[in-house]
Amino acid sequence: MKEEKYFSRKVAVITGGSSGIGKSLAHRLARNGASVMILARDPEKLQAAVAEIRLSARRGDQAIECFSVDVTDAVRVRDVMAEIAARRQSIDVLVNSAGMSQSGYVTDLKLEDYHRLMDVNFFGTLHTIQAALPYMVRQRSGHIANIGSVLSLFATFGFSTYASSKYATAGLTEVLRAELKPRGIRVSLVIAGYADTPMYTQTRHLEPPETYAITRGSGIIHPDQVAEVAARKMAEGDYMIYANFEARILPFLSRLWPGLANRILDFMASRAKPAPPPEKE
Ligand SMILES: NC(=O)c1ccc[n+]([C@@H]2O[C@H](COP(=O)([O-])OP(=O)(O)OC[C@H]3O[C@@H](n4cnc5c(N)ncnc54)[C@H](OP(=O)(O)O)[C@@H]3O)[C@@H](O)[C@H]2O)c1
Repeated sequence: MKEEKYFSRKVAVITGGSSGIGKSLAHRLARNGASVMILARDPEKLQAAVAEIRLSARRGDQAIECFSVDVTDAVRVRDVMAEIAARRQSIDVLVNSAGMSQSGYVTDLKLEDYHRLMDVNFFGTLHTIQAALPYMVRQRSGHIANIGSVLSLFATFGFSTYASSKYATAGLTEVLRAELKPRGIRVSLVIAGYADTPMYTQTRHLEPPETYAITRGSGIIHPDQVAEVAARKMAEGDYMIYANFEARILPFLSRLWPGLANRILDFMASRAKPAPPPEKE
């Protein structure tokens, strides 16, 4: 009920809203009576998602629309945000879910890999925030939620590109929370573990064996569960939002006993079966 009251008749912009966690959140906010604008690159996936999300809307006057945008393109992001604000009169909620994952050994990863992950996960998030903020500041209201990961708080073997981009985004989110509070704008950081989305399916099997040895016991949650907790806790005004118990406990324990956590993780990594040698040409 609180959730519905909080989101009803709001204008929500969701990056990555055509898939996974972003799409689940788009359904959730539509069900709560919000107008939902989803942003991603692939126009076909966007159109298909809009058709689906429309079925979740409560009222006929809710706008459910999509915009083909690459979040790494700051100018396009700014133009689309201006178009949404002009057509809908406000931007009340911004969810940054667009993102990509990657794993690999530091010794194999290239400088371009770090730039690519930072461009999408960090700068993509910064671009939408910078584009939406002038409207939120003028309104003296708004809510920005960034979809983070356990790896926003706790980095493990194999995730140097992804964790760096997620740590950077967590740092930005923390500062935003403090600076935007006096301006009436709420900020949330959503911490999720593995979620059963296309990103998970496409990247999980590429993890180095040591990473897999550490993470194989991890639970996998449904993106609807992330969306359910995120929307409920956003409506309650929470800053840190943990999608499930595992997402909360792992970073907590690693901060409480960093030495012990490292010893356990190093041991788990050392038990990994080595990757097969590369095929000879
Ligand atoms: N799945 C997990 O296990 C997990 C766990 C913790 C946190 N997360 C985080 O949750 C967020 C969503 O992940 P997901 O698992 O839901 O992934 P997903 O199903 O692959 O969805 C990613 C979405 O982002 C869009 N996107 C990707 N690159 C983009 C770009 N450059 N510009 C605009 N849109 C872009 C994709 O659409 P297009 O490709 O059409 O652009 C898609 O809509 C990410 O930030 C991820 O880091 C995921």
